[in-house]
Order: sequence, then structure tokens, then C-alpha cells
Amino acid sequence: MGLILKDLSKTYPNNNGITNLSLSLSHGLTVLLGPNGAGKTTLLRILATLIRPDKGTYYYNGIDAVKHPHEIRKILGYLPQEFGAFVHLNAREFLTYMAILKGLTLRQARGRVEEVMDLFNLRSYGRKPLGAYSKGMRQRVGLAQALLNDPALLLLDEPTAGLDPEECADIRNFLAQMSADRIVLVSTHLVADVETMAERIVVLNQGMLVIDTPAEAFVSAVEGKVWEWAEKRENLASLKQRHLVTGAINKGDAFFVRVVAAGEPPVPNARPVAPRCLDAYLYYIKEWVKQ
Ligand SMILES: Nc1ncnc2c1ncn2[C@@H]1O[C@H](COP(=O)(O)OP(=O)(O)O)[C@@H](O)[C@H]1O
Ligand SMILES: [Mg+2]
Repeated sequence: MGLILKDLSKTYPNNNGITNLSLSLSHGLTVLLGPNGAGKTTLLRILATLIRPDKGTYYYNGIDAVKHPHEIRKILGYLPQEFGAFVHLNAREFLTYMAILKGLTLRQARGRVEEVMDLFNLRSYGRKPLGAYSKGMRQRVGLAQALLNDPALLLLDEPTAGLDPEECADIRNFLAQMSADRIVLVSTHLVADVETMAERIVVLNQGMLVIDTPAEAFVSAVEGKVWEWAEKRENLASLKQRHLVTGAINKGDAFFVRVVAAGEPPVPNARPVAPRCLDAYLYYIKEWVKQ
């Protein structure tokens, strides 16, 4: 039961979107992480039944979604990466329109729109045109439309991109709140999203699955491999050729580098430090490319 992806592949004319992706997800919040071009949007659009995979399929509670997309659309909520809001409509008009597109009657739509507006604190802004909203507010409207049909499967493509830290925190809190009893898959390239809300982490690179892990295990995999030391500033470029440098910072007069390296300390004066999410992420991506 849950969501099972089997060998999903999608090739574009000059490009591999995703290749042989297999994964199974149950309820809770999974963060889909990967550099630009990794295939996150392609995967989410396939799962949202907007594009058909060339190969493979996926199942929701045993239903083959590629064969029966209509069945899946009933339980699906999707927030696209480019959420082009209808700038002249106000939130209430836009949400009502979306609810009707999702198959609710006008009467049901009106009731449900008020519920989601309450949930996302949109009521006091209900009359303002969406074009006058801040980016964070627009994302709240985007989440509200994704939840209109109370979906069991919620797919969100970079919902925090371009938001300020306060708006990001706001969206993350909503997502955590919504993921208790649904499957929520959220793509991002913000490491802060991973640290603050992920229960599970799936990393894609070049259309392939790099790692699929519970959030706790993500960072602990680089335990004992992260080092810091004072270095000459001019050595940074050559150091980068030999090591995975995940940070560099001036502390007073000294210049410190942060490096992920397995095994022995990379230099005699390297001191082991506690790993952070960014160290783990860059390590996985780089190790994977080496394979
Ligand atoms: N419609 C398309 N036509 C051709 N190539 C595409 C199209 N959409 C995506 N791609 C390519 O597929 C790869 C994966 O893209 P995408 O799924 O958008 O990645 P991400 O969302 O992780 O940035 C990229 O190399 C991208 O250039
Ligand atoms: Mg994308």
C-alpha cells in the first residue's frame, strides 16, 4: 500500500529526464532533493499524471496510475514549480474556480474554499487580487488550491523557492501539519528545508536515485568524515581540486576550511567536527558522480 514507483523513465529529445526510478513511499513528509536539472520536476509531473513515463509505472494503493490517471487525480494535490496565479482574481475567486475544475459542485466548492482559506489564514486577504500578493502569500494560496480535494497524495514542487526565511518557515510549518495522514513529497534544493521538516530524504542526480534514507540517517552517514582547519587563503583553489570543500569562513585573522573526506584526517592539523546537512548532501552527490 502507499505509493510505489517501478522503473519510471522519461527521456526528453536531448536529455534524460529520469531513469529507472524505483521507490516506495508511505505517509509522512519526504523531501526530494537534487541539483537543478536532477529530474525533480519531471518526477513530480509524472506522479501528478501530467506527463506519461516512457517506461515503468507507479501504483497508489494498488491502482496503476499510468493506466488509470483519473483515479489518481481524485486523490492528488499538486503545486507546480511555476505557480502562475491568475493575477486579476482574488483568492476566493481563484480557489472557487480551481475547486470546480477539480469536480466539486459550486455549493461544495464554496464551503471547502472557506475551510482552506481559514487553514492558511487567507480570509482577511480574500478580496485582494492575487497580483498584489507577496510571494509567500501566493504560495499559501498555491498550497490551499492543492488541498481543495483533501488529497491523500500531495506533490509540491519547490514550494519555498524565492521566499524569505520567515515565509519559508511558515510554509514548512504548514507542510509538517499536513503530512501526518498523507503522503507528501516536496522537492527543494534548499538544505534548510531538509534540516527542518524532512522525515525521509530522497536525493536525485542526473535523473537517477542517489539515496533514499530516513532523515536521521542522512547526516549520520558522514559522521567522522567532516574536518575543519586553518588554511592559507591562496590554497583554496588547489584544495578544492583534491577535496570536497563544503565551507570556507574568515574567523578573525584566520581562514578556515571545511572538508568532507573519509578515512585519515586530510591534513595533520584537521580537527573533526559535527556534520551538517550540507556536508552530507554534497558528499552524496559527489560520491555518486565518482561511481
Ligand atoms: N520539456 C523538456 N524538454 C526537454 N528537456 C527537458 C524538459 N523538461 C526538463 N528537461 C530536462 O530534463 C532534465 C531534468 O529536468 P527537471 O525535471 O526540470 O529537473 P529539476 O526539477 O530537478 O531541476 C534537465 O536536464 C532538463 O533540462
Ligand atoms: Mg524543477
